Amino acid sequence: METTLFTAPLSDAEYDSAAEIIRSGGLLGIPTETVYGLGANALDPEATLHIFEAKGRPQDNPLIIHIPDESWLPRYCHDIPPAAYALARAFWPGPLTMILPRRDNVPLRTTGGLETVGVRCPNHPVTLEIIRRAGVPIAAPSGNTSGRPSPTTAGHMIEDMWGKIDGIVDGGPCGVGVESTIIDLTGTPPRLLRPGGLPLEALEAVLGEVAVDKAVVAKLADGERPKAPGMKYRHYAPKAPVTVVTGDPARSAAYIQSHLSPQSGVICFHECTSLFRGHIVHDLGPARDKAEQARHVFDALRAFDETDVPDIWAQCPDSSGLGLAVGNRLKKAAGFHVIEV
Ligand code: TXA
Ligand code: MG
Repeated sequence: METTLFTAPLSDAEYDSAAEIIRSGGLLGIPTETVYGLGANALDPEATLHIFEAKGRPQDNPLIIHIPDESWLPRYCHDIPPAAYALARAFWPGPLTMILPRRDNVPLRTTGGLETVGVRCPNHPVTLEIIRRAGVPIAAPSGNTSGRPSPTTAGHMIEDMWGKIDGIVDGGPCGVGVESTIIDLTGTPPRLLRPGGLPLEALEAVLGEVAVDKAVVAKLADGERPKAPGMKYRHYAPKAPVTVVTGDPARSAAYIQSHLSPQSGVICFHECTSLFRGHIVHDLGPARDKAEQARHVFDALRAFDETDVPDIWAQCPDSSGLGLAVGNRLKKAAGFHVIEV
């Protein structure tokens, strides 16, 4: 298949072509502030089937839908609690996905057979304009091949999807770098299903009590079912095994120094890079700057696939603020193989 590359800023005619890809049932790589998405018309089960095929994604793993503003919520969801509007007002457009009861016009193919649907309003002007012109919500999982780290640049999107989809929109590198935070509003208290670009503390400031799903912090036992079906799949996995070391940066660096082999790859805080000379090192960003770490975590994991390191050691931030999401992505890449020092 021939893939068209659209590069921001898009002309009026390019916006129309991109929207037409969605309207006519095609697949379009779209930029968002979190990660790039693989988009299709959320209301067209034929189109969304192609998303699953292009990614190699199991069909019981639901897609989230992207809308241009909160006024579209009642078109696709019912029994919307006041908390949903409070969250939309506080955080949309932005890195927050809300799980709500779906209306019948959202196909079960899109929701992986569930009676609920994940909805988000992404904070990217190009994608918002494409959704408005298409006139339909865009279903979009992260644009990676299933199992690979999520794409945070158009280059990553091209790596995984060139020749397999109709178009890719290059809207620049993603400003947040980890996927949206997912909150399930169908029960009480609301439940965090996936930590992401919006910190848990920000949700708690609006909602009060928030339950944290077990799949966020630990590996589930065989047969255990997470509330977000996607959390059960091995994710973000580089080809080499990863060991995550948590704790104070000086101590975790010392632990890694005394355990790594001469060929090991290292993901570490900026301040620690010089300790690992001679190794392939990816700088996660300054130990205190979790927003910078979020922007780097997927690129670091993805970059090791071009090397033949036998194993990877990663330093990990504490779990406050964006640290919960950065740590979750690293730990999932490690299959929750975590050492606390
Ligand atoms: O930032 C993001 O959320 C990106 C960008 C492209 O918007 N999208 C994204 O989609 O990360 P995806 O499919 O890679 O991750 C969505 C997660 C999956 O783990 C899926 O199982 C879960 O959301 N999910 C989707 N619908 C759900 C539902 N109705 N109930 C529970 N979990 C749901
Ligand atoms: Mg994904």
